[in-house]
Amino acid sequence: MTKIIGISDVAVIVRAVGVTGLLDELIDRLRSSLASFDAELLETHDRTGFHYDKPGLGLVEWMPAMDVGRRVSVKTVGYHPANPAQRNSPSVLATTSLYDTTDGRLLLVCEATVLTALRTGAASAIATDVLAAPEASVLGVVGCGAQAVTQIHALSRVRPIERVVAFDTSAAVAESLPSRLDRLELDPVDVQLVGPDDLGRLMSEADVLCTATTVDPGAGPVVPESEHRPWLHINAVGADFPGKREIPLTYLDDALVCPDVPAQCLVEGEAQQLRAEDLGPDLAVLVRNEGEYRRYRELLTVFDSTGWALEDLVAAELLSDHADRLGVGTEVDLQPTTDDPYDPYRALDGVEVGPRKRDPR
Ligand SMILES: NC(=O)c1ccc[n+]([C@@H]2O[C@H](COP(=O)([O-])OP(=O)(O)OC[C@H]3O[C@@H](n4cnc5c(N)ncnc54)[C@H](O)[C@@H]3O)[C@@H](O)[C@H]2O)c1
Repeated sequence: MTKIIGISDVAVIVRAVGVTGLLDELIDRLRSSLASFDAELLETHDRTGFHYDKPGLGLVEWMPAMDVGRRVSVKTVGYHPANPAQRNSPSVLATTSLYDTTDGRLLLVCEATVLTALRTGAASAIATDVLAAPEASVLGVVGCGAQAVTQIHALSRVRPIERVVAFDTSAAVAESLPSRLDRLELDPVDVQLVGPDDLGRLMSEADVLCTATTVDPGAGPVVPESEHRPWLHINAVGADFPGKREIPLTYLDDALVCPDVPAQCLVEGEAQQLRAEDLGPDLAVLVRNEGEYRRYRELLTVFDSTGWALEDLVAAELLSDHADRLGVGTEVDLQPTTDDPYDPYRALDGVEVGPRKRDPR
């Protein structure tokens, strides 16, 4: 049987564990998977898919990972930036499937829109924990949509965030951010919304910056070149599409830039503006050598986040473990069980399979 974990099942799990509890567990599990990452034991492939501009700008991509000898996970993710305004639906929609590598059976299909937001927050929290000043308390946020919620939530788990200075080109989205954060009861976070003329101030006050925008390819960057704290750490989350960028090149030139997936970042992330040899350690190397890289906490650093299939595998397994423990989810006979594996009709138990009637006309 295949287990289906839909959004209402995720809600049951979150009610039992708490959303902060789930996020903390995900941060811990992801951190230990990164620390022990070995490409021969955990294989990931470049994501691929369809990018299109009809009926509007969008993509559907798949992101595969294999825990060798155990499981394969494939996240299928859609990105349609017009969704919130035109369809009241998230820009990013995803599902993840888990397969058993013993026999290829589909073990699980789960909702992964919430998981994607959580794991993207968790990845930023891990990079921030290594690279940001320990007392970082002011978080600049550019782009106040879905990812901003989990970015703020996750960063507040690793740094004593007291003030969020936030900007969005949509005043309505920015204005709804405080109420979305209120539900998380983050303590104590004061959210200050600023306009486009205050982006220089946002940059100069931030200890940590998070950019998570749907800026169009070719239209970035989304922050100005301006004064900033010498220790500013940036989580650049939004650039994950060819031509898309959020951060000015001058910052990247001055910073230690840590990609999540170097080859992918050179094609889709902020690293499009750089050469491979300009990049710093990737996220796994950063975590494995945390002691060495902590000295960058006094300097400008950038986490170039484009999203990694390893993160999706870890997130889906966490959800699956909670679903098993709580007895949540629906078992469905998506695939055949049969006593004759050589006869595909045998699994259609009780159905008359032949001879087929011809259409008399
Ligand atoms: N790195 C990752 O792993 C990862 C994971 C998920 C999503 N993303 C990316 O993050 C981005 C944001 O995703 P989301 O789910 O929050 O989208 P969203 O649609 O919920 O929110 C994006 C917000 O950005 C705002 N925006 C657009 N251009 C802007 C600009 N120039 N300045 C300020 N704000 C601007 C929009 O008004 C919108 O409110 C997307 O590009 C998405 O692909 C990355």
